[in-house]
Amino acid sequence: MSANSPEATPDSPAVPAPVVVAIDGPSGTGKSSTSKAVAARLALRYLDTGAQYRALTWWMLSNDVDVSAPERIAEAAGRPAIVSGTDPKAPAISADGADASGPIRTQEVTAAVSAVSAVPQVRTRITELQRSIAAEAAAEGVGIVVEGRDIGSAVLPDADLKVFLTASPEARAARRSGELSGANAAGLAATQEALARRDRADSTRKASPLKRADDAVEIDTTELTLEQVVECVVTLVEQAAARRAGQGAAVR
Ligand code: DC
Repeated sequence: MSANSPEATPDSPAVPAPVVVAIDGPSGTGKSSTSKAVAARLALRYLDTGAQYRALTWWMLSNDVDVSAPERIAEAAGRPAIVSGTDPKAPAISADGADASGPIRTQEVTAAVSAVSAVPQVRTRITELQRSIAAEAAAEGVGIVVEGRDIGSAVLPDADLKVFLTASPEARAARRSGELSGANAAGLAATQEALARRDRADSTRKASPLKRADDAVEIDTTELTLEQVVECVVTLVEQAAARRAGQGAAVR
């Protein structure tokens, strides 16, 4: 995928209805870049749900919660206030008022986040937050793109559009190496192994695993540029918004 990031122009037309879009898939498939670019281009809000799990993990590591003990994680799951900004051009995340956007990308957080996000009390709490942010957007007449692992399958099963992104393990490792702080020295093979380990943990956990919803549109991004993936998803969102607008007109 190319490094260019498509920007929204100030006069980008908003879609004709407040669509809710779920974009799921494992890391390194282009989920974040695609979700942000689509949201910016169509004047939709954007929610990075991985950042919420990462912020909670960072707060736990910073507050001496033993993240190797699920019962300690469960006890602490409701403690910090996790606040997500929804501007796709300036995504923000804080834990108990502290800016978490830098620290959540460290290797330490990346290594611990799968264990934290597997705890049912964590999932219940973060899922509630995600649903309320999506509901607020819809209530205010603005659509939203929500990216994660279980958004289409569990968090927002009634989303207007569900997209599931995939890519080959080699392409995913190459993209990830360039993204995470401190990952350069680890080398490509180590990154690929770390991704495979996290995939296994995220896909096999009992509570709401990484899963493609039956009605999701699957896009293999291995051979596509970011711009091509964005174009494809923008078209799908426009179609979903038109369907939703049509349904609204029919019941009026
Ligand atoms: O997308 P990411 O790499 O920032 O996600 C970090 C972790 O959070 C990932 O390993 C699994 C977890 N996660 C999840 O369990 N459910 C989501 N909807 C999003 C992320």
